[in-house]
This record gives sequence, structure tokens and C-alpha cells, in this order.
Amino acid sequence: MRRLFGTRLRRRSHHAHAVVTGAGSGIGRAFAVELARRGGHVVCADIDEDSTKETVRLVESHGGRALAVHCDVSIERQVWDLSETAEGWLGRPPDLVVNNAGIGAGGQVVGETPLPDWRRVLAVNTWGVVHGCHVFVPWLRFAGDGGLINVASAAGFAAAPRMGAYNVSKAAVLAVSETVAAELSGSGVAVTVLCPTFVSTNIIGSELIDSTVARTAERLMRLTGASPEHIARRTLDAHDRGRLYVVPRLDAQLIWRAKRMLPAAYTRAAGLLGRLPA
Ligand SMILES: NC(=O)c1ccc[n+]([C@@H]2O[C@H](COP(=O)([O-])OP(=O)(O)OC[C@H]3O[C@@H](n4cnc5c(N)ncnc54)[C@H](O)[C@@H]3O)[C@@H](O)[C@H]2O)c1
Repeated sequence: MRRLFGTRLRRRSHHAHAVVTGAGSGIGRAFAVELARRGGHVVCADIDEDSTKETVRLVESHGGRALAVHCDVSIERQVWDLSETAEGWLGRPPDLVVNNAGIGAGGQVVGETPLPDWRRVLAVNTWGVVHGCHVFVPWLRFAGDGGLINVASAAGFAAAPRMGAYNVSKAAVLAVSETVAAELSGSGVAVTVLCPTFVSTNIIGSELIDSTVARTAERLMRLTGASPEHIARRTLDAHDRGRLYVVPRLDAQLIWRAKRMLPAAYTRAAGLLGRLPA
């Protein structure tokens, strides 16, 4: 199964100087700690300063070095400032950038989801990753070496009902990652896009998820959620092997295949599931 999702390029492994966005919680924090375990120095960016400082303490407790930086990835200027701060602290541009920051959203169908919710989700989840790529990819291209990991979601291809804005935001992350991978193919820069289903984090606390969807998501997360630590380890291992796609769980892999092989049946089934009571 794994071979289906991987574009094997080469084995690589140096994450000495990394930037991780959304590092104050969940998957971002797990990336920061795992990178520290692997000997990395990690710039931890987030809008939540207290939780980011806690991540720094965790990294240091694993023998790594880390710096907490306030950065709202939806604001271009702040991502430029992040790159300057990172370069100053690391003493060089980062050789690994993890565009992970994101927010959850869901509850209403397309046409009823308020447009300000669409704009906020796209601002953080899509523009946040676009800003990260725009600011950091030229360094990676110039260096001809290093890595980029973008955190999308299985939502980027699953088209689950009542999650339109989130789905669109993550499909865009998938597309920009595939584009950068094509543009950098043949260079020493590895590009990986992570597409998980449920991971046990704080994402359900988002104010853009309505209470009914949050209850269902909480239940599914309890039943099927992977640990962020497992996801971070698995993604970094796959990245080191040069894999473009990381689709970590069987449920996501089945959705990925069903969508491609039986698109009409898949859409009908997704619609039926979307109409089940929460
Ligand atoms: N948890 C899941 O089930 C799941 C599944 C698929 C994809 N993802 C994706 O994983 C990524 C990480 O989410 P998580 O599950 O760890 O959630 P989380 O809520 O635990 O962590 C997200 C972190 O991002 C930060 N953040 C939010 N908006 C930001 C902004 N504008 N700028 C900078 N930082 C910001 C938050 O403060 C928080 O620390 C997101 O992109 C999410 O969409 C999560």
C-alpha cells in the first residue's frame, strides 16, 4: 500500500535548522519535539505565545534548541519577519520548513457557510501555506538542498459534506505542494504533503466548527485519532525517503483510492454519510 502513495527519490536526513508553524500545539508541537530528538534546532512559530513557549521547554527537555516566535501565518509581513528572525537565530536560512499552522471549520453546507468563515479558513490554512512557500521556497531553491513539509489533510481530497471551506483550503495546500514538488524536482529539495484523517489534537476547539460537528469529530477522534507524535515521526521518516505524499492511515488511503477509482459512487456515499444524524 505504501508504495502507492510515495514517489521514492532518495534517502536524506538533515533537519538541523527548521522552522515549524503552528508549533504551539498538536501536530506542530510534535514536529518540533521530534526534530529536536533528531538533533535539530527549531524555530517554533505560532499566534499563541504561551503554548509556543511550552513547546520550546519540551524541545529543550529533549536536548534540542528552540526559539518561540509570534507569527500569524495569514499575515504576509509576519511571515517575512519570521524568516528574518529565523535566519538571525539559526545563523543561516532554515533547511526545513514545516507549514503546519491551520484551523478547523465545519458545520454548514455551501451556500449557508458564512463568507467571513470561508475567508478566515482560507486566510490561515491556504494563505498561511502560500506565504510560507512564497517566503521560504526561494531560499531552498537557491540552496538546492533541504526540505518543505506542508500539512494538508485527507479533507483535501475527501470532499466531506458540511466542510466546504476546510476542504477547499486543504485541496489548495495539496495543489501548491504538488506544484512546488514539480518545480523543484531534480534539485536536492524534498517536498512532502501530509494528508491525515483524525489526529488527536486541539483542532476541534476552533470557533469555526459548530457544536454538532464538533461532537461527531470528537467521537471520531477518540475512536480513530492517531497521536500527533506518531504522525510527526512517520512524516519525517517519509520525507527523509523523499516521499511526496504522506497519507498515514488506512481510512485516508481507502478514501484516496475510492475517490479516484469510483468517483460517482464515492460522491453518493459521502453525501449519504453527510446526512446521517450526528
Ligand atoms: N487534528 C486533525 O485531526 C488534523 C487532521 C488533518 C489535518 N490537520 C491539520 O494539521 C495542522 C495542525 O493542526 P492540529 O490538529 O495540530 O491543531 P491544533 O489546534 O492542536 O494546533 C494548531 C496550532 O496552530 C496555531 N495557529 C492557528 N492559527 C494560526 C495562525 N494564523 N498563525 C500561526 N499559528 C496559528 C494554533 O495556535 C495552534 O497552536 C492544521 O493545518 C490542521 O488543519 C489536523
